[in-house]
Formats: sequence, structure tokens, C-alpha cells
Amino acid sequence: MSKKSVNTPFEEQVFKPSKDFAKNARVSSMAQYNRMWKESVEQPAKFWASEAKELEWQKPWSKVLDWKAPDAKWFVGGKLNVTESCLDRHARGPRRNKAAIIFEGEPGDKQVLTYAQLHREVCKFTNVLIARGVKAKDRVLIYMPMIPQAAIAMLACARLGAVHSVVFGGFSAESILDRLEDCGATHVITADGGWRRGKTVALKDNVDEALSRTKIVKSVIVYKRTGQDVKMKKGRDFWWDELAAEASAKHEAKAFDSEHPLFILYTSGSTGKPKGILHTSGGYLTGTYTTCKYIFDMQDEDVYWCTADVGWITGHSYIVYGPLAMGATQVMYEGAPNYPDFSRFWQMIEEYGVSIFYTAPTAIRAFIKAGDSFVDGHDLSSLRLLGSVGEPINPEAWRWYYEKIGGSRCPIVDTWWQTETGAIMISPLPGATPTIAGTATLPFFGVDAAILDDAGNECKANEAGRLVIRKPWPSMTRTIYGDKARFKKTYWADYDGLYTAGDSARRDKKGNFWIVGRLDDVLNVSGHRLGTAEVESALVSHPSVAEAAVIGRPDDLKGQAVVCFVTVKGGIKSTPALQKELRDHVGKVIGAIAKPDNVYFAPALPKTRSGKIIRRLLKELVSTGEVSGNTTTLEDHSVIEQLKKTIADS
Ligand code: WT7
Repeated sequence: MSKKSVNTPFEEQVFKPSKDFAKNARVSSMAQYNRMWKESVEQPAKFWASEAKELEWQKPWSKVLDWKAPDAKWFVGGKLNVTESCLDRHARGPRRNKAAIIFEGEPGDKQVLTYAQLHREVCKFTNVLIARGVKAKDRVLIYMPMIPQAAIAMLACARLGAVHSVVFGGFSAESILDRLEDCGATHVITADGGWRRGKTVALKDNVDEALSRTKIVKSVIVYKRTGQDVKMKKGRDFWWDELAAEASAKHEAKAFDSEHPLFILYTSGSTGKPKGILHTSGGYLTGTYTTCKYIFDMQDEDVYWCTADVGWITGHSYIVYGPLAMGATQVMYEGAPNYPDFSRFWQMIEEYGVSIFYTAPTAIRAFIKAGDSFVDGHDLSSLRLLGSVGEPINPEAWRWYYEKIGGSRCPIVDTWWQTETGAIMISPLPGATPTIAGTATLPFFGVDAAILDDAGNECKANEAGRLVIRKPWPSMTRTIYGDKARFKKTYWADYDGLYTAGDSARRDKKGNFWIVGRLDDVLNVSGHRLGTAEVESALVSHPSVAEAAVIGRPDDLKGQAVVCFVTVKGGIKSTPALQKELRDHVGKVIGAIAKPDNVYFAPALPKTRSGKIIRRLLKELVSTGEVSGNTTTLEDHSVIEQLKKTIADS
């Protein structure tokens, strides 16, 4: 190594894929990546058609793409049943007895489902749903722990053409109700509870609470996981096992249109109301499959593990649809990473011989904080590839992940994408792309990403601007369910015909994309999106609160911490007890991930003369203790002094 490279700060060091890795990778050089990328964006129809052909279609498409921004139709005229690519074709071939899911429950229970078994379980549960009256296009809400039955429920919906909407098990009854009503779900699939840090989560109770306030749900199917006490409402609630015992394990998959809706997944936006992101069938499956193939370089002998929950898009695309379409073997884990202690993941990697591991920077930071002793002594030599998702990965976390977990041997793919994009958009290809800690590097095949300034011109190297995608891609969201106007306004209004991601980013001289952060009022808390407006509306729903403003503060562990400023109603005392009550209240209204880190009582909030809260000033006050820049729009200057005191005193 030359002296110069020894002195290069870690942040600038370039990591090239090893020859060893490149040798067997699907894309093994930058020359190959460049050539394939160029072809794929010049002739997207050709590229995507050749990928889609690797999936099962009952009727071939007549046209690859029908595009009139913002409306995309992919594989027009094609018909498929998504689950045939994920199950039937493996179950009838040489992968029949290959493990599809290796499950480990938090208490330590284990279960392996082969492709043949998974196929059988999905067919059976499809028949259960049909018997309960579920039909194609009906919406089914799924609220489950991270157990194989969550995937089985999703796949059974897909198999009969019903649209699933999974709600993360950490969300509240109120969140269930909002989503249920927004998408008009007529059926719910849940469990009695799930295991989390040695305790049970009362899933069925939350469903009951939500359903007590609506009449639209016809039936609830409950999987018995924990055995905890639950109430079963006669004629509405049914035990999964009892229904399945009577169902046939044979089900002939019917084909649906390529644009048939597959699922709705809610994500936070800049208003209080979460957006129901709609994904459809053929294009979504093609996108998730193709990215698994090239970015995770999944090979038949790999053991893959994505630590996300199926309640998020990562779980949909990279636990359920993508890996199963690939015929991969994967590990699925129910519980917390630190139960019974922080060695759980490393113990599981060793035990199952995990070779591809996909997790989030927030988890990595928690492991670093817990200390290396939890990793030491575990044999992680089975690992060959590491992935990161959810937020920019800071160099310290990258380095630890690379050295401590990957043994300085495994490439890291830092994958940028969104609920809306359906599949990974910007990421290294592990056998080809030189990486630097903190950059998601280069666009995937068929992805025409750029960074634009306000006028719509491409930014110069290292200048930050808005991240846009200029060409349609198969797994793109088709709409916000029931709100086409919001869809157009949110993603397609900044530049004519271009998709705006809502992220700010810059490109370095080599063309690498560095994501800076969100441009809207959306926080990234532990890799999860949370709308400041959602938290604000939860706060003002409390009887003591008059007004609330919520901002994000940089946080070493969570990425961003949730900081709230509230003014209380006349006659209410601002006590520490009320502070705690408000934290718990937000947790109850939205879910534990939204619980504020700080609640400050403010005598007033900084506002413009027209009455708009100036969050920028609050942000600055919290991070620096001062405000600089323009405060001329401020209606009452004394508010700032009062707030400074509030923050300093707390
Ligand atoms: C937002 C999307 C996509 C699955 C998980 C989150 C941020 C995501 C990265 C990354 C920097 C990232 C962006 C994006 N984000 N991945 N590798 N580097 N930022 O999905 O909840 O839809 O959130 O997460 O800000 O817009 P999501």
C-alpha cells in the first residue's frame, strides 16, 4: 500500500469488490455494469422484458410499457399469478424440498418450511379465505407478528387476487382503524399476539379495539401464536387452525392482469394522513426479483436473511416477493435483536450459516453501542455479502459492519429506495461497484436517476438538489389509494413528467449518489418514516394540548429523535407528569416508534404573521441553542427568548 493510501481518511477510502467475490458474481466488473446500465436505460423495454421472462406468466404481454406520465402500465395484456413464480414453479421442480423459510421464534422455537410445504400452506389458506367470502380486489388487512403465517397470509391474498394491506404490529388500534377505513378492508388476518423482548404484544386486543369503532369488517381470522387470552366474537372471529383443518391443500392459481392491484402499504407523508401506496402485480414482481438477482446476487446455495418486519416495504419486497421469486432460502426471525441479549443475530448467523445479511444502520449503531463482546466468539465466516437500508449509513457504522461483521471480506450494498419505488433504485452491485462508506453509489439497471435544482437543471458535482427519477420503472407505485390528486401533487408536480422522491442528494465527481435527507416534513426515526404532522395531530388530540410543533433532532442511535413543542390549554399545569402522559399518548395513538424523545412546554410557538409555525427556528434552537438567519417573518420575537430558556432549563 502506498503512503498516500495509508493516510487517506476512512471517509474517502474506496473499497473495491474482491476478485474472489467478483469471480462468481452475475455482474463482475464496472465495464459490464456500465454497458448493461447504458443499454437498460436506452432500451428499458428490452431490458425489463428479458427479466420478466424469467417469471411465470399464464399469458404473455403484448406491449412492455404503456407510459403517459404519471400513469404506467407494465407488461400490458400479460396475465400472471404472482404466487406461481414464488411457489408453484419451485414446488414442482428441483427446489421442491429446499428450505424456503427457516423460522426462529423469539422464545427459541424453530420451524423449517420447504417450498413444497410453503406452497401447500398457501394453497390451504387461500381456500380458507375463499370460504370466508374473500374475492379478487377485496382489501384484506394483515396485522401479524413476524412469523411464517404473515407471509402465508400475504401470499394467499395475492393468490386469489385480493389486495393485502399489512399494518406493522407495532402500530396502535387507532392506526389500524385509519388504514382499515381508508382502504375499505372487509377482512382482517391477525394473531392472538407475538413475542417481543420476552413479553407478548396484544395484537388481537388492538384489532378488537379498532373494530369496535367500525362495521365494515366481516371476519377476523386469528392465528394462535402465544396462547394468550383473547376474546373471540361469535360469527366474526375464527381460529386460523380450525379453518385450515377443513380446507383443501389444492388450489389452482388463476391468472390476473399484470396491472392487477397486489397490495396497499401505508407510509407517512407531510400531512397527518398516511398515504396508501398501491403496487400492482407483474411490474412489482419483476422489480423485486431482478434486484434480488443482481444486487443481492442470490445464488441457490445462499442463506439469506433480511431483518426487516413484513409490516414495512422492505419486508414485502425483500422477505416475501423477491427472495421467493428467486427460490432462495431465507431466515425469518420473530423478535427483538437484543433478546435475550445483543448476541442473538450473530448466534443465528452462525447457526444457520447465513451468507447474505440485510439490515438497517440504526440496528448497527445499537450493536456498536452494546459492545463487541456480543459479536466476539461467533463464527461469521459464512457471510459473503452485507446490505444496508433505511437511511444514510454513517462511516463509523459502515466501518464496524465491514470489519467486525463482514471480516473485511464482504462487500456492503447500501441500498436506496422507498415504499413508493417498490424495489431498490440506487445501490452498488457487489461484484462490480467500488464503494465508499455512506454512498448508495450508482443507479440500478433501468433507473435514470438525477439531481436537479429548482429550475430543473442538473446540479453540478457535489451540489445538493432534488433526487428525481426520469424514466418509469416496473415496480413504481401506481397511485395513492383513493387519492390520485395527492399522488400527482406529491410525486409528479415539481418537474414535468419526472418522479420526485422527496429526498435531497448530491453526486460526487464519479457519479456516486449521496443521500442528504428528506425535503418534506417527514422524519427518519430508526429507518422508519414518520410525519411530523402525524405526531402533531396525535398531540393536539390530547385534551390538555392547545398547539404542537414537531421537529427532528439528529440522534446517534435513531438517526433522528422526535422533539415536540406544545402549548397547553388555559388552566392546565405543565408538569413532568403531563410530559410523560403526552409521550404515552402519542405512543397509544400512533405506535411506540412515534413516542417523542422530548416534550417541551412552550409559552407560545414561533409563527409568521400569517400564523404559520416556523419549524426551521425550532430545529435550529434545538441543535445549536441559538437562531441565526432571517427572523424578520417572526410575529413575536420574545417567543424565541422564552423558548431558549425552556430548552436550557430542561
Ligand atoms: C426513505 C424511504 C426503502 C426501505 C426502507 C425505507 C430513506 C432509504 C436509504 C439509504 C439513505 C435512505 C430516504 C427515503 N432511505 N434507504 N440507503 N440511504 N437514505 O422505506 O419508509 O419508504 O423510506 O428512507 O429518505 O426517501 P421508506
